[in-house]
Amino acid sequence: MGRRLVAALGGVALALSLVACSGEGAGSGGDTAEKKPGDLTIGVSMPTQTSERWIADGNAVKEKLTAKGYQVDLQYAGDDIPTQAQQIDQMITRGADVLVVAAIDGTALSGQLQAAAEAKIPVISYDRLILNTPNVDFYVSFDNYKVGVAQATALLVGLGLQTKDGAKGAATGPFNIELFAGSLDDNNTQYFFKGAMDTLKPFLDAGTLKVKSGQTRIEQAAILRWQQETAQKRMEDLLTSAYNDGSTVQGVLSPYDGLSRGIITALQNAGYGTGSKKMPVVTGQDAEVASVKLINDGVQGSTVFKDTRLLAEQAVRAAEAFLQEKTPEANDTTTYDNKVKVVPSYLLPIETVYKEDITKVLVDSGYLTAEEVAAGQAKK
Ligand code: GAL
Repeated sequence: MGRRLVAALGGVALALSLVACSGEGAGSGGDTAEKKPGDLTIGVSMPTQTSERWIADGNAVKEKLTAKGYQVDLQYAGDDIPTQAQQIDQMITRGADVLVVAAIDGTALSGQLQAAAEAKIPVISYDRLILNTPNVDFYVSFDNYKVGVAQATALLVGLGLQTKDGAKGAATGPFNIELFAGSLDDNNTQYFFKGAMDTLKPFLDAGTLKVKSGQTRIEQAAILRWQQETAQKRMEDLLTSAYNDGSTVQGVLSPYDGLSRGIITALQNAGYGTGSKKMPVVTGQDAEVASVKLINDGVQGSTVFKDTRLLAEQAVRAAEAFLQEKTPEANDTTTYDNKVKVVPSYLLPIETVYKEDITKVLVDSGYLTAEEVAAGQAKK
């Protein structure tokens, strides 16, 4: 009898502590569980429309939420930090019940997220982790460290130093390579670069790979706001400063397809890809259609495919859980520390795409059509 009472009291204590937990941070979003989907609004804040992937992300999240009957307030910030802050402020004043945010600068939204917390609006960080605030409740992304590993591995495979199954390749080098990184205000940038550098390190240490420019630090390799033009300019500068002695570059680590296109333009303008000057092995990320065409044409070496349909699905699941005053399902509760707390995350798998994988991975799955790949342009 006594034991049962203790067990029952333990249960009550557990239930109370769970209630207390769910009341933490941004909280439960008010009485959303009782409302009809049509009375609930999800604010979706995306960074930019200049990159095709964020358009796909925004559309996918909106379509999936609308199909479930929710109202969606989707905004793009034109890669301008004050614009994103203002759009989120507006979403809060217009009464959003959940926010889904892909931040331009992961450290710049603390004020907005404080206001969201005060209004009990749960916040889901979309693909890029929002830093330095307790007011981010969930994170949906991919395994970003593995993206960097995959990019470096694709570089090694392209150069023939490694085979796809991880065995030693036939090539011996040494090869000249150059390194690019993403925007330093994007938390993912560090993960991509670290994953890549950990993978390249043994080859750099052995002298099989040489960064001829000597620019190996992330601050030197970074491209602010992931701008294609900035990457093109940096590649041009590298070619004129480090390759003016008749030497050539054989590989370029690029963390994103948009940057890869800028890099490829600089290389082509310098005569690579024609005559004896072979196009270097260039990596990428996002399977943007213009780059998939370049891979298909044998110009870009590879990309890392992150299925934005699945990411959108996870964001929608998390948003629905919050609206039903439940805790979204996480599959990683240790990795993503935003400097104030470890944010519970749902991380999705990634896939490297070489030319021979385009049909199976991208076309057969319905992500792109064969016509779009051939044209290098999305239909819509
Ligand atoms: C990152 C994202 C990449 C790429 C890049 C540039 O945050 O993880 O997939 O899209 O931004 O947009």
